[in-house]
Amino acid sequence: MDKKDFKRTLVTAALPYANGPVHIGHLAGVYVPADIYVRYKRLQGENVLFVGGSDEHGVPVTIRARKEGCSVQDIVDRYHNLIKTSFERFGISFDVYSRTTSKIHHQFASDFFKYLNDHGKFIQQESEQFYDEATQEFLTDRNIKGECPVCHAADANGDQCEKCGSTLSPDELINPVNAINGNPLVKRKTTHWYLPLNEYQPWLEEWILKEHKEWRPNVYGQCKSWLDADLRPRAVTRDLNWGIPVPVEGAEGKVLYVWFDAPIGYISNTKELCDAHPEYGNWETWWKDDSTRLIHFIGKDNIVFHCIVFPTMLKAHGGYILPDNVPSNEFLNLEGEKISTSRNWAIWLNEYLDEFPGKQDVLRYVLTANAPETKDNDFTWRDYQACNNNELVAIFGNFVNRAVVLTHKYFDGVIPAAGELTDYDRATIAEFKGVKETLSNNIEQFHFREALKDAMNLARIGNKYLADTEPWKLAKTDMKRVETIMNVSLQICANLAIAFEPFLPFTAEKLRAMLGMAEVDWNKLGQLDILADGAKIEKPVLLFEKIEDSVIQAQLDKLARIKQENIIANFKPEPVAKECTFDDFMKLDIRVGKVLECSKVKKADKLLQFKIDDGMGGRTIVSGIAKFYEPADLIGKEVCFIANFPPRKLKGIESQGMILSAEDADGRLVVIGPQGKVKPGVKVG
Ligand code: 2FM
Ligand code: ZN
Repeated sequence: MDKKDFKRTLVTAALPYANGPVHIGHLAGVYVPADIYVRYKRLQGENVLFVGGSDEHGVPVTIRARKEGCSVQDIVDRYHNLIKTSFERFGISFDVYSRTTSKIHHQFASDFFKYLNDHGKFIQQESEQFYDEATQEFLTDRNIKGECPVCHAADANGDQCEKCGSTLSPDELINPVNAINGNPLVKRKTTHWYLPLNEYQPWLEEWILKEHKEWRPNVYGQCKSWLDADLRPRAVTRDLNWGIPVPVEGAEGKVLYVWFDAPIGYISNTKELCDAHPEYGNWETWWKDDSTRLIHFIGKDNIVFHCIVFPTMLKAHGGYILPDNVPSNEFLNLEGEKISTSRNWAIWLNEYLDEFPGKQDVLRYVLTANAPETKDNDFTWRDYQACNNNELVAIFGNFVNRAVVLTHKYFDGVIPAAGELTDYDRATIAEFKGVKETLSNNIEQFHFREALKDAMNLARIGNKYLADTEPWKLAKTDMKRVETIMNVSLQICANLAIAFEPFLPFTAEKLRAMLGMAEVDWNKLGQLDILADGAKIEKPVLLFEKIEDSVIQAQLDKLARIKQENIIANFKPEPVAKECTFDDFMKLDIRVGKVLECSKVKKADKLLQFKIDDGMGGRTIVSGIAKFYEPADLIGKEVCFIANFPPRKLKGIESQGMILSAEDADGRLVVIGPQGKVKPGVKVG
């Protein structure tokens, strides 16, 4: 089908796991771009449906429930509600946001599986899995812990070692145990249903590699490397007691794999909406009519499921359309570090909404301006502040405010008619004439960062126009000219209200209200006849406000506290060193000394030079703790030092020993000394 022939667009956004709130990484990667796209399509008058929901199965929700000592249902209820409300408050304009624990979904996913099974689309295979005999349960990779075979960390997960980052399988772990109760595990045979992806390999190669060369390079590239490595059958069931029961006799204790049922959620949620609200049409038209364009917005860790596994499920079933595009983003980091739910290293949407009331659009702006479209990107609070203060306030807000204030000042809030345009006016207008086309093209191609720049450029043009024409100076001499300038300026404001609707919907609404615009017509973008001469505009309201340093500092302090808590929570003592004898210990001569003098060593940022009273006439020691102390703070302190190391030269100074120190929770070195009064020179032992 030629792309132009599509009659409707179905947009899905990855279903977030209901095991925690959503954070800025999710927003930047999936929900903000999806929402921009959908709002834009709606403005164009296209028939579009935006489907979302919570992913409530899988192991992580069960782990969270056990940790918190409540039922899994409690967990998914809590987070589903929190996520749904947060999305609403943030302006993510889903047509439906449901959940995979709904009755409709259970039935739909179960029937889908049954259909594939009845039509011989699966293979069944027996394999050996880890089993806890005490609790009589098979364990998934995530529920197994053991020693990492690579770095020997004591509690690597069955799928990954958090310490060294190695990807693992439970078989590779040394002494695997049940992560929940520490029970030893045995291997036991179990049977599962597999989707034979390998049988679809030629079709997938044709469909993706030949027919979808236009997909983003990161998406296409990931698909290609999966296909190059040859696909293997994939298990679509699990031994677990939380999920959708496998609808086959004799499959007790088995459920559908979360990645099998979750994408079916897109379909069942559409059905839920359409069944309850026939005005949305028939769900089957959305999913089975090939004049529907299907777009999946996802994060990069979901590519294989949306480009290979789910399409194969749909193909195996038959009768369903396939995605036209899967615009996946890369990852967003936070202050230079990977966002992590388990380490609480994130900006949670619900907390942001509480702490920054009315500032949804600031975050939407920053996340779009820095969207990780082609490579991982970083969110920093300083950048957030700069985007707000230097762009939204100084350019967009400032321009609109001046245009509205001046219209009230000179014309009582009535839009004056434009007189004859000057060459400068015409040049200004020419600059944004093509904005509709550029902006539309960028959004159609999922280049949201560029599209936002196009919209912002309008504000820059307006700001410059007012600064250059200076109507406040002309008001004394040439009111006719001021009329034209204010008309042009207000028309640019109206253009902004249209152009920003997909990106900053709250701001666009405020702006429309101020300008008295009843509706938004995308086709008017780039034109100068949006507002009628003689119409009245409302009093100015500020669209954005400056964000002070103290607000940003409070957020940075919060992150610093989290980092601190992580260090403490993750502290694991190093393994005890190889055994040594008392005689070995006695070879070391450790003494108490008192610091008489302490100074920085020139041209060495790390070194401090000490003069120590060692009870034996004094000695010099050079120590690498300059980053952690001011020299004056150490003078008079009692320290322990090794007295019988051979002297060695550091930066030309002979060091006659080593001062003992230990690392504190901040990673700072702290010198070690006696707790009571001890004379310099006394031996430690
Ligand atoms: O990665 C995730 O957060 C998954 N819950 C996404 C599922 S997307 C779809 F398949 F539902
Ligand atoms: Zn490791």
